[in-house]
Amino acid sequence: MTKIGILKEKSAGEKRVAAVPETIKKMIAAGMEVFVETGAGESSGFGNEDYEKAGAKLLSNTETLLKGIQTALKVRKPTLEEIDKLPEGCILVASSLGPGSDSELSRRYCAKKITGFSLDLLPRIARAQSMDVLSSMANIAGYKSVIVAADRLPKFFPMLMTAAGTVTPARALILGAGVAGLQAIATARRLGAVVRVFDVRPVVKEQVESLGAQFVDIPIQHETTQDSRGYAKEISEETARKEREIIARELKTADVCITTAQIPGKKAPTLITEEMVKEMKKGSVIVDLAAEQGGNCVLTEAAKEVVKYGVTIIGFTDLVSQMAYQSSQIYARNILNFFLHINKNSSKELDREDEIIRSTLICYQGEMLPSSNPFSTAQTRTDDGKGKNQEVRVRQGSF
Ligand code: NAI
Repeated sequence: MTKIGILKEKSAGEKRVAAVPETIKKMIAAGMEVFVETGAGESSGFGNEDYEKAGAKLLSNTETLLKGIQTALKVRKPTLEEIDKLPEGCILVASSLGPGSDSELSRRYCAKKITGFSLDLLPRIARAQSMDVLSSMANIAGYKSVIVAADRLPKFFPMLMTAAGTVTPARALILGAGVAGLQAIATARRLGAVVRVFDVRPVVKEQVESLGAQFVDIPIQHETTQDSRGYAKEISEETARKEREIIARELKTADVCITTAQIPGKKAPTLITEEMVKEMKKGSVIVDLAAEQGGNCVLTEAAKEVVKYGVTIIGFTDLVSQMAYQSSQIYARNILNFFLHINKNSSKELDREDEIIRSTLICYQGEMLPSSNPFSTAQTRTDDGKGKNQEVRVRQGSF
């Protein structure tokens, strides 16, 4: 019987948990035994008694809990102390395990012969959709970004007819219409804002319009802005200049701007300059979802809310934790689907030819693996713990 451990997350500000009672029941039905650290679901609204009712065994001592398990499911990468307590040869699954330049982390994975899966490296293919944590979390962040903006904006979002006359609706500008952007558009529309959208990939125009928003076109050779997998490519300096001119014009009339632009494996593109912020209306709000990747606005400060030139600029990196109940629920479903996928082979052998397994496997029985993910173009060199340098991935997001 596979024994699974669910830990209380230790990272500052992390309120999610990797398994909820609903997914625990499914693990038990699939023949697994589940151990949950006492209080693991406390910050996301799942009590110890809920886990017990679902069939999990609760343990307050992390060491005892980890000692007996074969697999640990987590949201964030483990602390060094947690790795030291894992049994040798343990399987570890988390939203991001990537050691990046953290050679100490790689050394510990090697020392404990860990087999580690980093879910931020899942390919965005149809088969992996039900496990895609980055898309799930981006969806939640897109929603929450608009709710936060509506809270800070000293205006209504919808048009109102009052006895004292009509109040015009807020104008929202959304930059980037990927997963987070589309949810931000839908949310801003539901609240009644007039929404204008810009994205370098013209293929999203139809989706944007189907949500009741207006797509802002720019005269560029669009074919070159998207790669064969449908992701945005870095644009030329000439196109970036035209884009900034349009954004500058659009920002002057916007009350709210949500920025979500990213190019896989790269620093977030700079779309909003200091000059543009100066020209915005006082009291307007920017929510920069790309804050952790360097920000789409030059004045964004990651994990902070600042006011510059009368404009509130929000760079929160924990929007999904601010929705911890449902982000845990959805994350837990994603990780369960992934776990069932890697275990579907009855021979217990990992199918390393499988694209989902190959892309997410960062270390196998302690051996750090070179990247097979097409987006992990930004790579770093780190020590593998045996004195050798080898390539490991740098993650794009850690949500
Ligand atoms: P995505 O890849 O689905 O969408 C990004 C969009 O940006 C694409 O449609 C792309 O065409 C567009 N884009 C790229 N370059 C552009 C440019 N120069 N101008 C206009 N559009 C451009 O990404 P997803 O999943 O929607 O994530 C968006 C961002 O949200 C990421 O930076 C992600 O890390 C972040 N995020 C932030 C969270 C938070 O709590 N702050 C939580 C979850 C995600």
